[in-house]
Order: sequence, then C-alpha cells, then structure tokens
Amino acid sequence: MQFIDLKAQYAVLKADIDAAIQQVLDHGQYIMGPEVAQLETALAARVGVGHCVTVASGTEALLIALMALDLQPGDEVITSPFTFAATAEVIALLGGVPVFVDVEPDTGLIDAGRIEAAITPRTRAVMPVSLYGQVPDMDAINAIAARHGLPVIEDAAQSFGASYQGRASCGVSTLGCTSFFPSKPLGCYGDGGALFTDDARLAQAAREIRVHGQSARYTHTRVGVGGRMDTIQCAVLLAKLPRLDWELQRRRELGARYHALLADVNVGLLTVREGRDSVWGQYTVTVPDRPAVQAALKAVGIPTAVHYPRPLHQQLAYERFAPAGGCPVAEQLAQQVMSLPMSPDLGEADQDRVVAALAAAVGRRG
Ligand SMILES: Cc1ncc(COP(=O)(O)O)c(C=O)c1O
Repeated sequence: MQFIDLKAQYAVLKADIDAAIQQVLDHGQYIMGPEVAQLETALAARVGVGHCVTVASGTEALLIALMALDLQPGDEVITSPFTFAATAEVIALLGGVPVFVDVEPDTGLIDAGRIEAAITPRTRAVMPVSLYGQVPDMDAINAIAARHGLPVIEDAAQSFGASYQGRASCGVSTLGCTSFFPSKPLGCYGDGGALFTDDARLAQAAREIRVHGQSARYTHTRVGVGGRMDTIQCAVLLAKLPRLDWELQRRRELGARYHALLADVNVGLLTVREGRDSVWGQYTVTVPDRPAVQAALKAVGIPTAVHYPRPLHQQLAYERFAPAGGCPVAEQLAQQVMSLPMSPDLGEADQDRVVAALAAAVGRRG
C-alpha cells in the first residue's frame, strides 16, 4: 500500500497530462509561458480572490509574501511551532523573529486565544498554518490582527481546496500561500506554489519579487528572488484541475470514513470545527506508544508517517526562538501524532485494512 497514491491519479489523467506537457515542449516557452497566466486566472477564480501569483514552491510563496510586506530584520511574526520547518524558516531567513504560539490540543492548529498576548511593538504579521488540511480560526485571528493593524498570511500549504465558513482556504487572509508539492491536495510533478490576495499592490510586489525585483526587464526596483513556477508544472496543474473537485470530495469522504471506522479504536481523532472542513492533506491520529504502533503497521505492509516529530522551538535551528515555558501542547502532540495512508485514490478495502491493523495494534474501547 502507498502512503500517498500518485500513480493511480496519473493513470486516470495520463492522456490529458501528457498532452499538456507536450504542448509546452512544442511551444517552447518553458519560463513564463501562457500556461502560467492561465493557471493563475483559474486558481484566482477558484479561491475567489483578485490575484494569484504562481511561484517556485510553497516555501517561496511564504518568503515572497513576507518580502512583499517588507519584513525587516528584528521584526516579529507570530506563528505555530507545530508545522513544517518552512513556516518559520522564511521568517528567520529574512532576519525576522518567529514568535511561537502554542496550538489547540484537538486540532493542532494555532490557538487564536493566545495570539493577542504574544503581540509586541515589533510584531509585523501573523502567520497561522492550516495544518493537515483544516483552516484555523481565521475570524478570530483576522479580528485580532485588524485591531493591531497587522497583516495575516495563511500558510495553506496543506489545505488547498478546504473551506472556512463558506470561503476558500488561501482566500481568508491578507495573503494566502500554498504549495503544489506532489503530495499536496493539488500537486504538480515537481516543486510549485502560489500566493493569493485581493490586494493589488501586494500582488504586484509579489510578481516583481519572483523575477528578481524587476518592474520591467532589467529594471530592478526592489530586491527579489528567482522564484517563478515552471510552465510545465503549471500545465500539469491545468490538466489536473478538472478532477480536483472529485478528489477533494473523495478526501472529505475518506476522512469522514476514517473518523467513523476509528470511533471505537484506542486512538485520538482530530476535531474538525463547525463551519470548516478538512481536505486531509494528512489524515493524522494520536497514539500513546507511536514507535510500537508504527512498527506493528509496517509489519503488515502499511506505511505511516509523522507530521511532525518535534515542534520547531525544539529544533536546533529554531530553539533560540523558544518561548519561556515552551509550547506544551505542541510538544505533547509531537510525541503522539501519526499519519495514515490518505489520498483521493485510496481504496476503501485498503482503508479497511489500515483500520483493522491499527485496531489490532492498539485495541478497541469498551
Ligand atoms: C505547512 C507547510 N508550509 C510550507 C511548506 C513548504 O512547501 P514546499 O515544500 O512547496 O516548499 C509545506 C510543505 O512541504 C508545509 O507543509
């Protein structure tokens, strides 16, 4: 069994994806070819915002977002410690200070109730993470940020296609940033990412930053990066878009099915809050003795993964940013989280096998 089955998806879409790639090979505009703008138009419409700017990766999207906001050395950005390193990495790369705010125990998402206390005169932005495919409490986060005049960047690398109170992930903050890494809910065949915003000035800044800060050819008006997304990768995503709604629906159904099948199994399930959904970028449970459970599943051919084994404030690169008293909830989750096989093409018979193996390893309640 695959942890994420990308080959089944390719088998279904092969003719369309091959044709889309061939078209790029034929027209030869490998950088900033017509598919780039086509994808940006299609994705902006999907998300319901004015502007989509494709970039080289999800990490680049976050970096460019902070650069567009003109983050300066010493500026603080409030974020989650329970995330992939890229979230804090881009802040530190620019000389900024990631300020880690602990997460909610039942979702793993930043605890909005703790954000205001972390705001200081040096705070420049809030960067919540839509972990595992669920958007955090953006109404509360946006309200706090607005009170303090701060922009909000959604790290939506794991949640493209999720919804929050009827709005799309990536369209619920000042700047939404996502990743098209192959295993993400919308994945290309290499690296890719995008920023979304309704702010025309920020969109223009992002467009310039991704091409070395050029406002016109060889006119460098700001410091930028080489951060474009390849035309071929945009073409792959255009070919995948017609199936995306089916895939997102399948992710929701498989997530709900896991929840139902695991209801009496001795694992902790994540909560999906009212008015939101999760696209289950990862389907993650908590288990007390993770190494033993992983070994038991591996022995019967079921792959698992850990997202993430250590919160960022306990990583060597970021421990200097650890808050006093740590982030106990994130620390506890990091000990216990375990992700199960999940992708739109996961078959129900395979899902049943995962549940049976997990139940055999940890037992059932009652
Ligand atoms: C939460 C989060 N942020 C950022 C990233 C970075 O995205 P990418 O791998 O496309 O650079 C990822 C994905 O790996 C992620 O999961």
